[in-house]
Amino acid sequence: MSDPKKLYIKTYGCQMNVYDSERMAEAMGGEGYVETQDPAEADMILLNTCHIREKAAEKVYSELGRYKSLKAAKPDLKIGVAGCVAQAEGQEIMRRQPMVDLVVGPQSLHRLPELERRARGGHKALDTEFPEELKFDHLAERPRAARGPTAFLTVQEGCDKFCAFCVVPYTRGTEISRPADKVLAEARDLVERGVREITLLGQNVNAYHGAGPHGDWSLARLVWALDKVDGLDRIRFTTSHPGDMSDDLIEAHGECPKLMPYLHLPVQSGSDRILKRMNRGHDAESYLRLIERIRAARPDILISGDFIVGFPEETETDFADTMALIEAVRYGQCYSFKYSARPGTPAAERALVDATEASDRLTRLQALLTRQQHQIQNAMVGREVGVLFERTGRMPGQMVGKSDHLHAVHVTGGGISTGDLRRVRITESAPNSLGGVPIGG
Ligand code: SAH
Ligand code: SF4
Ligand code: F3S
Repeated sequence: MSDPKKLYIKTYGCQMNVYDSERMAEAMGGEGYVETQDPAEADMILLNTCHIREKAAEKVYSELGRYKSLKAAKPDLKIGVAGCVAQAEGQEIMRRQPMVDLVVGPQSLHRLPELERRARGGHKALDTEFPEELKFDHLAERPRAARGPTAFLTVQEGCDKFCAFCVVPYTRGTEISRPADKVLAEARDLVERGVREITLLGQNVNAYHGAGPHGDWSLARLVWALDKVDGLDRIRFTTSHPGDMSDDLIEAHGECPKLMPYLHLPVQSGSDRILKRMNRGHDAESYLRLIERIRAARPDILISGDFIVGFPEETETDFADTMALIEAVRYGQCYSFKYSARPGTPAAERALVDATEASDRLTRLQALLTRQQHQIQNAMVGREVGVLFERTGRMPGQMVGKSDHLHAVHVTGGGISTGDLRRVRITESAPNSLGGVPIGG
């Protein structure tokens, strides 16, 4: 028998791309490919790309440039571009980088095997349609290989919100929710293969409204159904929009035992003027009230967020409002970005804030967020938390896992293995992780 062909996938962007990459690897498994971590030995290289900011999109072209010599040495090597850059710039990629053999958008990735066959036949293959059929229903059956203790599971995809800065509604298309029974079946399958924690994914995951028995299910209803799955210990979901944070979901945070005390709830800005220009659909005050209600339901919940600084027309006063909102919320973890104008979005037409000014604001904002992150981490010292161990650490005998609040926690000793869920007393707080000792056996 000939050796299996090798597939190298490089993934950029959000968790949904991580999930999609897994599914593409599985689909290509059905075509006789096995994954490799080394592009030099690959028969096919696939870049799963992100278009969210200019820098992310440009990385694709520099990465492709690095494969030129590989392709010259091995003309049979097929190079593909998937993901959101593929969706946004499909033809342009083929023009700028003629060595690209195939381009596949996020909603047509179930057609990848067919595109690969076309590419093997010497044709350029491009599919960036939003097909009628749902990719989820047409993806290859998963090979039933064992899995690590954590997994992503996409339940909702696409976005109808059209924030003025954002490409996602264009690259991922309109909002679609998967039927509840499909999600539950996939969750049970993951659990049978060793998964103990599932993170439900969606661009607006809390807008989930999948078909279920007796009408549409909300995300809260789905979370409660997953709570009943034996062997599943932890449930998370991301990313939520403040406008879709329904009462039943807030309640679930207080009452559902397996739902972890962590919520990613991006607000982007604390200025009402900028929020309006961003088309976010809510103001700062309503966001703060929402956070209060969530904390009333689950007092120890860790809130994380995203911020954009230097959005067109943002003044120093607008920025001060953002800093004030951050002070009021006290975030445990945040991602923050300098505004990047994206072609085709409404905000791209507007005048940019001075680049030095924007960088200076980002520095000040990140200093505040880092301070808050450390305060919250330091306050964990002395507390007992659950930790799901995911891998060995760098030190001998060390194991690393994630706490209920998604802090990285390292522990030495205690006879811990990957996949163990243990109670740990936190004893130290380092810049980006916590240290602790396991409690009991
Ligand atoms: N659905 C999520 C966000 C997905 S994009 C939500 O609504 O919050 C992830 C993050 O990238 C956004 O929260 C935003 O902070 C950032 N982002 C999106 N477009 C951007 C742009 N044009 N420039 C800078 N940051 C951007
Ligand atoms: Fe983008 Fe806004 Fe949709 Fe989030 S809600 S994906 S930021 S358009
Ligand atoms: Fe990037 Fe597309 Fe995700 S633009 S953030 S990979 S949805």
